[in-house]
Amino acid sequence: MKKVFVKTYGCQMNVYDSERMISAMEPSGYVETKSKEEADLILLNTCHIREKAAEKIYSELGRLKFLKEDNPDLKIGVAGCVAQAEGEEIMIRQPAVDLVVGPQSYHRLPSMVKTVTNGKRALDTEFPEENKFDHLPKDLKRRNNPTAFLTVQEGCDKFCAFCVVPYTRGVEVSRSPEKIIEEARSLVDRGVVEITLLGQNVNAYSNNHSGENYTLSKLIWKLSDISNLQRIRFTTSHPNDMSQDLIDAHRDCEKLMPYLHLPVQSGSDHVLKKMNRKHTADDYRRIIDKLRKARPDLLLSGDFIVGFPGETDEDFLDTLRLIKDIEYGQSYSFKYSSRPGTPAANREEISEIVKKERLAELQTLLKEQQVRLQKKMIGREVNVLFEKPGRLAGQMVGKSEYLHAVHVTGDRIRSGDINKVRIITSETNSLSGRIE
Ligand code: SAH
Ligand code: SF4
Ligand code: F3S
Repeated sequence: MKKVFVKTYGCQMNVYDSERMISAMEPSGYVETKSKEEADLILLNTCHIREKAAEKIYSELGRLKFLKEDNPDLKIGVAGCVAQAEGEEIMIRQPAVDLVVGPQSYHRLPSMVKTVTNGKRALDTEFPEENKFDHLPKDLKRRNNPTAFLTVQEGCDKFCAFCVVPYTRGVEVSRSPEKIIEEARSLVDRGVVEITLLGQNVNAYSNNHSGENYTLSKLIWKLSDISNLQRIRFTTSHPNDMSQDLIDAHRDCEKLMPYLHLPVQSGSDHVLKKMNRKHTADDYRRIIDKLRKARPDLLLSGDFIVGFPGETDEDFLDTLRLIKDIEYGQSYSFKYSSRPGTPAANREEISEIVKKERLAELQTLLKEQQVRLQKKMIGREVNVLFEKPGRLAGQMVGKSEYLHAVHVTGDRIRSGDINKVRIITSETNSLSGRIE
C-alpha cells in the first residue's frame, strides 16, 4: 500500500475535490495518510483567490522539498486553482514539484502519478471535453461525518473584475440531476444526513434532463424526497440568480435550512459597477426583503471586499450603510488583492493603510451584528445536528439549522443525532446549550 497526503486550501469545493482525488488514487493502491512524513505522494490542493493564498503554496513547497532528502521516492504534486493559473511556472519556481494538475483534470491523476513514478514530470491544466465526474471511481467508504459536500455546478460566467475563478474553474457547467441524486443517495446510505450543494454560482444551476429543465430549486425538491436525508444547504449563490422559485423553496421546503450565504462585495453602486457585479445595492436589498418575507428567521451571511480600485470614503460608507440595513449573522471580508489577468489588475490601487483601516471598521460592525444576533438566540430552542466531540470532556459540538456551532455536554449524544437544544450562552464564535 502506498500513501497519499492531501493538504487543502481555499473553498469548500476544494474540500470536495480533495476527497475525490484520494478516491481516484485508491484503485492504484493508495490510501490516505494524515502524516506528510510517511507519504509517498503529497498533493497540495490550492487556492488562487488572493495573493496571500497563492504565496502560501510556494512557502509550503519550500518546506516540503526537504522531505525528499529522507525519502527520495516521494512525489509532490500541485492541484487546484494555483495549478490552473500558474501551470508550468510552478515547476520552474520549485524544481521539487513532480506534477501539476488543474481542477478539471484530476481524474487523470492516476496516469500522471504513473508517469512521475517513472522519473518524469507531468502537467495537465486542460479543460477536457470529457466530464471528470464520469471518470472518477465511486467512493464507497463509510463516512465518519454526518455532513457532506456535493458539487452540482462548477465554474463561473460572471467575470467580476477582481476575480480569478472564471479563469481557474472555467465556464459554468451543471452536472446532470440523475448523477447528483445518485451521489446523494450513496452519501445517505453511508450515514450522511446533511448535504451542502456546492457551486461557484450554485443558484445558476440549470440542466436539461429528459426534456425537463432542472433549476436549483427543482433539484432541492427532488433531493428532499430522499427520506433519510434531513438537511439541505447550498453555497455560494449570486444575487442575480436568486430566482423566485428558489426564494419560495426557502418558505416551503422543510429540509432546506434557513441559512443563506449571499455575497454582495460592496454597498456602493459606483463600486458595484466597476466590479462588474451587474446589480445595484438596492437590487440586493430587494432580494433580501423577498427572502425574509418567505423565511423570516433566515440567517444571512455575506462576502465583502474593501479597497477596490476607485473606492472612495463615500463608497465605503455606502457599504457600511448596506450592512446596517441587512444585519448579517455571519460574514467574510477581505482587502482587495490585485490578481494577474483580471480586468481590475491594471487599475490604480488605493493605499494599503486605507484598506487596512476600512477593513478594521467593517469587521467591527460585522462582528457586532454577529454577536447581537447570537445573543438573541439565548433562551431559544434550536435543532442541532451533532458532528464531533467538543474541546471539553464529555462535550459534543454540532450545527444549528442556522449554522451556528453549538456545544452541549452529554454522554449519550452520538455523531449524526439531531436534538432539540435550549441555548444558554453565546461565546465569540459559538453557542452553548442543553438538551431539553
Ligand atoms: N463564487 C463565489 C465566491 C468567489 S470567491 C461568489 O461569487 O460569491 C470568495 C470571495 O473571495 C468573494 O466573494 C470575494 O469576496 C473574495 N474575493 C474574490 N476575489 C478577490 C480579490 N481579488 N481580492 C479580495 N477578495 C476577493
Ligand atoms: Fe468570482 Fe464573481 Fe464568479 Fe463569484 S460571481 S466566482 S466573485 S467572478
Ligand atoms: Fe480558491 Fe479556486 Fe475556490 S481560487 S476560492 S480554490 S475556486
